[in-house]
Amino acid sequence: MAFGRALLDFGTGVREIDAGHEGLAFLMARIFEPGVECGRKSGACGEHSCNKLSALLTFLRHNFAAESDLMERGGYPNRDAHCDDHVKVVEDLKALQASRVCAERDRVLVRQVVDRWALRHFQACDHPLGRWAVTRRVVPAA
Ligand SMILES: [Fe+2]
Repeated sequence: MAFGRALLDFGTGVREIDAGHEGLAFLMARIFEPGVECGRKSGACGEHSCNKLSALLTFLRHNFAAESDLMERGGYPNRDAHCDDHVKVVEDLKALQASRVCAERDRVLVRQVVDRWALRHFQACDHPLGRWAVTRRVVPAA
């Protein structure tokens, strides 16, 4: 199951979390298109640092910072474990970059890494965070 489907199953009810999921789904649906965020189109492929992987990492780090801020605002008790799980996908993508994976050529591999992480993380980490944020009134109920 691609994580686009998981957005429907694991929506948190917290707009700032769900917006991050929707943004990631949007990016994942377009980032693998030929030429999008690819250094090859200008003849300067970043073989040492795939631009598509960099774009994914930038987007994820932005989302993770927003979630971390939410957790900090309310004193979320599972903050460290949640943030550790964010680090896992960042490290996996950085490892692909270090291995000179091209996300245009190896799109299936990159998609699998992100999808597998997202499916698990949305359910195991983001959904409980959303429930906690609503019940603790850290954010207003949707
Ligand atoms: Fe998260």
